[in-house]
Amino acid sequence: MLMLRSPLQPQEITDEIRARFDTRDEAAALADPSRITAVATKGDIGLPADLMARLPALQMIAVYGVGVDRIDLDQARDREIAVTTTPGVLTDAVAEHALALLLSAARRIVAGDAHVRTGAWAKAKLDLGFGLKGKTVGILGYGRIGRRIAELARGFGMTVIYSDLAAVPDEEAGYRATPEALARDADVLIVAAAGGDGTNGLVGADVLRALGPDGMLINVARGSIVDEEALISALGNGDVGGAALDVFQDEPSPRHEIMDLPNTIVTPHVSSATTDARRAMGRLVIDNLAAFFDGRPLVTPLEVKK
Ligand code: 8YV
Repeated sequence: MLMLRSPLQPQEITDEIRARFDTRDEAAALADPSRITAVATKGDIGLPADLMARLPALQMIAVYGVGVDRIDLDQARDREIAVTTTPGVLTDAVAEHALALLLSAARRIVAGDAHVRTGAWAKAKLDLGFGLKGKTVGILGYGRIGRRIAELARGFGMTVIYSDLAAVPDEEAGYRATPEALARDADVLIVAAAGGDGTNGLVGADVLRALGPDGMLINVARGSIVDEEALISALGNGDVGGAALDVFQDEPSPRHEIMDLPNTIVTPHVSSATTDARRAMGRLVIDNLAAFFDGRPLVTPLEVKK
């Protein structure tokens, strides 16, 4: 029996899951947890350790997304619970959203919209933005999404540098060993790293200071990667020029200090939220669930390392 933690978009995906698999929503599933052998969940909500522990027969977790930082992978490994994700099919959408946030910040799109709607245009010109050509973008996390962001940024004439656990062959020159070194050499810092214990607070006061008063921070990864206290302080005192954020430590209700600042742009964790990407993610969830219930090899299993 399948526990579906949250409806998946588009609706046709949820409809097909309910039609093909013996499915319960979370409340109904917990009325008889011993019958749940599979869970379908989303990257941003995962499956908390205590909830996982209440499912004694659980054998498989299908994640709609690529983030597994909200899943107790140690418990999954110890209990030999398989985890699947939806890699590749959301790469373009997330990378495009990162560039959309960058362009919105660079060309002051949100401020410009308000400038027209409020009638301020009749009284004053909009403040100048900045161009992308010739600027350096630093990408923190150089996996599928980070490398697609690099391709798109190069299309705008930007120089790409990056930081990850190791340099990428043939791109050694662009490698920076630490987030601080990356920020120091970048005009724009885009966070595209995986969330989890290894990256919590990776972008702190020292990295933000290195990014500098004209620097721009973009985050399409996880709110946990940025020290929000340090970011609010740096944005407020001018240590960092601005931030455009799609993810936050407190979702769906981010800290109001972030929204109160004039040099921030915020979106509600929608970087993968295109019909194309979400339909393809949903198809992968369904294909993995069908493989599980049919006893076939899973389509996109996550290698759960020790
Ligand atoms: C998910 C995400 O699609 O991939 C992830 O882990 O955070 C998003 O792309 C989102 O969680 C769906 O609600």
